[in-house]
Amino acid sequence: MEQHIKSLLSQEEIDLINIEINNIKESSKISIWHENPGEKRPEVTETHKIIQNTHVGKIMFDINVPDSVKIKIQNIASENGFILPFHRAAYAEYSAEWGAPELVDHLDSADIFMVDYQLSSNTNWGLVIDGNLHDLKDNEGIAFRPKKQMHGRPEKVFKDGEYVQMLFLEVLI
Ligand SMILES: [Fe+2]
Repeated sequence: MEQHIKSLLSQEEIDLINIEINNIKESSKISIWHENPGEKRPEVTETHKIIQNTHVGKIMFDINVPDSVKIKIQNIASENGFILPFHRAAYAEYSAEWGAPELVDHLDSADIFMVDYQLSSNTNWGLVIDGNLHDLKDNEGIAFRPKKQMHGRPEKVFKDGEYVQMLFLEVLI
């Protein structure tokens, strides 16, 4: 069963994460990749850390997050029965700038426990998990198991300038 979490991060944690994201955006080149939902991501290199997926209208890259964030995710995982170390954080940004955002219903290939966290947005785009629509606000997350729980988003045409910024905060099962 998925868990909706409000006010997940502190302002200080959010500020540090935004600095990290902006540093990578400024220092890294973009590789183009056409993902099918749930597929494994390609390897990135030192110079090409950003993956742009025009098919689903997003850019994505791994980021470092503060230890306090890792501990929060580990605690949520352990409350759900997964007493495991933090594995990875990825940033994803959906906007018309990168293609036509979409996320059709799918299961992931890797078995992880994850918090889908909405960092920032200027439009609403709910997350559907096992048929339940969750309206996410900024600084809210949904914890779930994407290999076992069908997930996707409603169809939506993004207008120019609209964006949704997410973090995928993962524990490997
Ligand atoms: Fe997924």
